[in-house]
Amino acid sequence: MGVFLWGFESPLRHSSFQHTIIMGQKGKIAVLLSGRGSNFEALYRASLHAGANFEISTVISDKKKAPGLEKARAFGITAFHVSPGSFITREDYEARIVQLLSQREVQLVCLAGYMRIVGQTLLQAFPNRIMNIHPALLPAFPGLHAQRQAVEHGVRFSGCTVHFVDGGMDTGPIILQRCVQVEAGDTEETLGARILEQEHRAFPEAVCLFFDKKLKISGRRVIIVQ
Ligand code: GRF
Repeated sequence: MGVFLWGFESPLRHSSFQHTIIMGQKGKIAVLLSGRGSNFEALYRASLHAGANFEISTVISDKKKAPGLEKARAFGITAFHVSPGSFITREDYEARIVQLLSQREVQLVCLAGYMRIVGQTLLQAFPNRIMNIHPALLPAFPGLHAQRQAVEHGVRFSGCTVHFVDGGMDTGPIILQRCVQVEAGDTEETLGARILEQEHRAFPEAVCLFFDKKLKISGRRVIIVQ
């Protein structure tokens, strides 16, 4: 039987704090990033469209000098650097992130180039409420350098995947994928640039579907309710 991901009726809702939904209000997302933040920027720009159903409440980076953090501040978005090195355990580090997300009333967490494996502390606080974007058609080429892996493997098509995050590396239920043809002579960089264009479309689309309550998990499949 399917499980609706959103709303008070969800039997999966066992987070440590309540995710309150008020009709007519925009969904609040947080973006976690470690680098340049182009996907964050795509989400931000999508959130500014008339009729957008979400807004970016918060940006958090594990890297103090992440360009995405600076970009967020330039856009006037509340942005935090949380250094993993300041905490003894990953649980403590993630507990601090959960605390910030709770204070900011975040309902959905978007990993946009966040270069850390998510642990149980964050997963349990946001069950089925963490999305990641990956620059390949999962389950092909998980992990680092997905674009390079695709070129080296000689595939004809690659692309990007937005998926819910589980305890594994790029293994969670797939929400959306967008396909890109691999051209003769493509390098990691040229293919990566074309994939990135598709990432910038796919991630906002997935977030919109989430807040439109159109995503339902059935086993490891995500069904898009029409
Ligand atoms: C993107 O390619 C994304 O798919 C991967 O990390 C990269 C982040 O890029 N997870 P950016 O920081 O969003 O520009």
